[in-house]
Amino acid sequence: MEQAMNYAADSNVCLDRIMANTDLSMLTKKDAALFTRRVNAHFGDLFDKYTTIYGHQFDCYFHLQQLINVLRDGVKNRKPALKKLDNLRLKSPNWYKDENQVGMALYVDLAGPTLKDLHTRIPYYKALGITYLHLMPLYDSPKGDSDGGYAVSDYRKVNPSLGTMSELESLATALQKEGINLVLDFVFNHTSDEHHWAKEALAGNKQFQNYYYLFNDRTVPDQFEHTLREIFPQVRRGSFTFNEHMQKWVWTTFNSFQWDLNYSNPEVFNAITGEMLFLANIGCAALRLDALAFIWKEMGTDCENQEKAHLLIQAFNTCLQIVAPAVVFKSEAIVHPDEVIKYIGKNECQLSYNPLLMALLWNSLATRKTRLLTRSMQKSFSISDECTWVNYVRCHDDIGWTFDDNIANELGINPQDHRFFLNQFFTGRFEGSFANGVPFAENPSNGDCRVCGSLASLCGLEGALDTNDQQGIEDAINRMLLMYGITFSIGGIPLLYSSDELAKLNDYDYLNDPSKRHDDRWVNRIAVTQEDTELALSEPSSQLTAEQDASLQVFRGLQNMLAIRRNNPIFGASRTTILDTDNQHCFAYVRENDSGEKLLAICNFSEETQQINGNLLGALGHTPSIDLLTGNTLNDNNTAILLAPFQQYWLKQ
Ligand code: GLC
Ligand code: GLC
Repeated sequence: MEQAMNYAADSNVCLDRIMANTDLSMLTKKDAALFTRRVNAHFGDLFDKYTTIYGHQFDCYFHLQQLINVLRDGVKNRKPALKKLDNLRLKSPNWYKDENQVGMALYVDLAGPTLKDLHTRIPYYKALGITYLHLMPLYDSPKGDSDGGYAVSDYRKVNPSLGTMSELESLATALQKEGINLVLDFVFNHTSDEHHWAKEALAGNKQFQNYYYLFNDRTVPDQFEHTLREIFPQVRRGSFTFNEHMQKWVWTTFNSFQWDLNYSNPEVFNAITGEMLFLANIGCAALRLDALAFIWKEMGTDCENQEKAHLLIQAFNTCLQIVAPAVVFKSEAIVHPDEVIKYIGKNECQLSYNPLLMALLWNSLATRKTRLLTRSMQKSFSISDECTWVNYVRCHDDIGWTFDDNIANELGINPQDHRFFLNQFFTGRFEGSFANGVPFAENPSNGDCRVCGSLASLCGLEGALDTNDQQGIEDAINRMLLMYGITFSIGGIPLLYSSDELAKLNDYDYLNDPSKRHDDRWVNRIAVTQEDTELALSEPSSQLTAEQDASLQVFRGLQNMLAIRRNNPIFGASRTTILDTDNQHCFAYVRENDSGEKLLAICNFSEETQQINGNLLGALGHTPSIDLLTGNTLNDNNTAILLAPFQQYWLKQ
């Protein structure tokens, strides 16, 4: 058969042959019709991607046939309620652009501590207005260090310490009833070395050895390493790990126990598609594509953001369109801003983290200046109307100083020196810094590093509480509200990182745990206890410690801003334009939606009062304008606008 069909063969001919060989007898009549309809609609796309990647292999069509079987099984296993949801979302696909959307990411064990316990947390999430809950990887993974669950041993099994798959499904249903979408991780760049595929490989099974990148000696790894970036130089140099048992070098971009999957093997694509559909069929609204930049390796390149990585993701997306069209992809590309954008598209990832905004908000806090933020956002904020940013200020990982060196150079900022400064500043080594961060992944060869720490500690709350500095405490709180306020208003889904909504400080306990000590990201993986949530929901009281008081001020401030957000359609689908201001400490943008509504946001990044020219209000068309945050009115275009330290305005006509 392979011989008879060359790759130029029309995809229709191929589709006919494949469908003629596909047994649909296990599907109901309705499902068979649905499956056939969707395959007909999307096969052209799938064929295109698949043959571009695998067409040179003699057995490409055999694997394509197998893939169709995997998709058929996916449809068979999709529950009727989810199929209903598919139809709903196909009719209104842009739910993720609504003004009511707010996300939160959390580790089950740091919040539950089990899946069952999370049910009792739902009222707390609702009090904040959360509509999207990302549970950090909760799959079975190695005991001890599992990279916070990002080393997956079994995608179909929940880590027993957290619960069971059926508990996860019932949580998904309970959340859905309350209007909260479940978001899960799709960790598909690598598996743990305890995944059964890895175990087969370890046992010498050639078929499964081909699931990974294994090398008998250093020749090829050395060639690759010329151009590879080291991700965790603090745990191991290079990107390969020698496995004593197999006497082979294994490609391990991240930790040594995380084996990179070999996507040049179509069997891997098919097998992972099966796992992906399993996750989709649990009932999640989005899958977070972990480390997606790394999935394709090409000699002589940094093996990040390769053209075929994009094709693979598009092919996965097409598979979802056939089986589970309600599910969208969220890109986790923490790479150069020009590369981040390339993952965003209706046919690739509908959602994407916005690491550039995140990093540059921190930059503006440190420098009290907004030029780099303004210029960078003017260049990179605008994306397809059918997609949306996921805007965040902290997450479970470190902060890397991702920005475009060309823009920095244009502004007279030396990128390398500036990154050095930011690291010094946020690790508190820079004199006068307010931040208590921890350096991460220091590279002994080039001195690079990244920064860890909680929102509150990086904003100065830890230091200010230590020295009982009232002004410092107030500044820290205002910094946090400013950072989040921008993510709530600039356009996209804001994503809160659990424990930051309560301004929790760095947790240094990880230093006592041998399985965590070497990975400083644990300093910002912080438990939220029942006591914490009770405090947040309690009536105001005068019996609070300074820390509790700060925590409540942040929580209530966020709650208030989020309520304003969900009650004003301008925060939903609308276009954002980043404005120039005449004050280097201020950042401003205007949004406009199809109904002609407008919002002008102006933010002050300094601890001094600032003034900007009132003609910026012209961006709204006419005055007076009302500040949604305070209810105050600004009247006259000719009068200068004053901004208190860290103040932000959300001005509407
Ligand atoms: C992603 C995760 C990070 C993890 C890495 C490897 O970047 O966010 O926590 O270490 O992938 O899975
Ligand atoms: C690197 C990767 C990013 C990952 C991080 C984990 O920055 O680019 O994907 O989240 O390492 O520390």
